[in-house]
Amino acid sequence: PSELLHEARLLKSPEEVELMRKAATIAAEAHSRAMELSRPGMFEYELQAEIEYVFKKRGAMGPSYGSIVGAGDNGCILHYVENNAKMKDGDLVLIDAGAEYEFYASDITRTFPVNGRFTPAQRDLYEIVLQANLEAIAQVKPGNSFQSVHDVAVRVLTEGLVRLGILQGEVSELIESGAFRRFYMHKTSHWIGIDVHDVGSYKVKGEWRALQPGMVLTVEPGLYIAEGTEGVDPKYWGIGIRVEDDVLVTASG
Ligand code: GLY
Ligand code: MN
Ligand code: MN
Repeated sequence: PSELLHEARLLKSPEEVELMRKAATIAAEAHSRAMELSRPGMFEYELQAEIEYVFKKRGAMGPSYGSIVGAGDNGCILHYVENNAKMKDGDLVLIDAGAEYEFYASDITRTFPVNGRFTPAQRDLYEIVLQANLEAIAQVKPGNSFQSVHDVAVRVLTEGLVRLGILQGEVSELIESGAFRRFYMHKTSHWIGIDVHDVGSYKVKGEWRALQPGMVLTVEPGLYIAEGTEGVDPKYWGIGIRVEDDVLVTASG
C-alpha cells in the first residue's frame, strides 16, 4: 500500500500542518535559547541539553533525530553526534536540532558565533548561505519543481564562493562540473512530516516532481570548509555553516 500511504503522508491536511507548525515553533524557541546562553568554554552537550530541555518543557516528545551541536571544525562534519567538545572563543557553532510533537517532526539548523560576534570571514560565508536559504525558499511554490529549489541554492552558493575567491572560474562551469561540491556536498531539501526524512516520491515518471500545496520540505543550504582545506585561504578554515528551515507549500507560495 506504500503508493497510497506515502502520497497521503506527503500532502498534509490542515490539522497536520498545525502540528508541524507547533513542532517547528518549539524548535525555534529552543534555538533562540541556545543563542542566548552560548559562551566560550561551554561544551557542545550543554547547548544540546538546553535545547532538549525546551523540547520537553514545551510538550514535545523529544528530539525528532539525534541533535547535532558542532563548534568550529565539528560544524564541517555532516552527521556529527559526539557533541562533546569545548566551544572556543572565535568558533562558530552549528546546531541542527528539531522537536517531535504529536509524532510530527521539525528539522531546523542555525549557525552562530559562540561569543556573539562574527569574524569578517565567518560573516562573509554566513551571508552567502543565508542568501541561498532565502532565495531557495522564494522558489518554493506550486508548479516549481523540487529540483529547482536545489538549483537556486547551488547557484547562489557558487556565485558567493567565486566572489570570495574560494572558487575560480565561470559560475555555470563550476556548477556543471560539480566543483562546488567540495564545499556543498549534500542536497538542499527533503520531505518532512511524521518522519524527519519523510516518505513520498521525489520524481514522477522520471521527472522531478512539481510542488503542490500541502507538501512540506526543508531548505538547508550550507558551506563547509574543514581545517587544512588545500587551495583555500586559512581564514576560512574550520567554518561549517548551514541554515535550515521547514517550508510549507501553499496555494500562494
Ligand atoms: N538533521 C537531518 C537533516 O537535516 O536532514
Ligand atoms: Mn537538519
Ligand atoms: Mn534536514
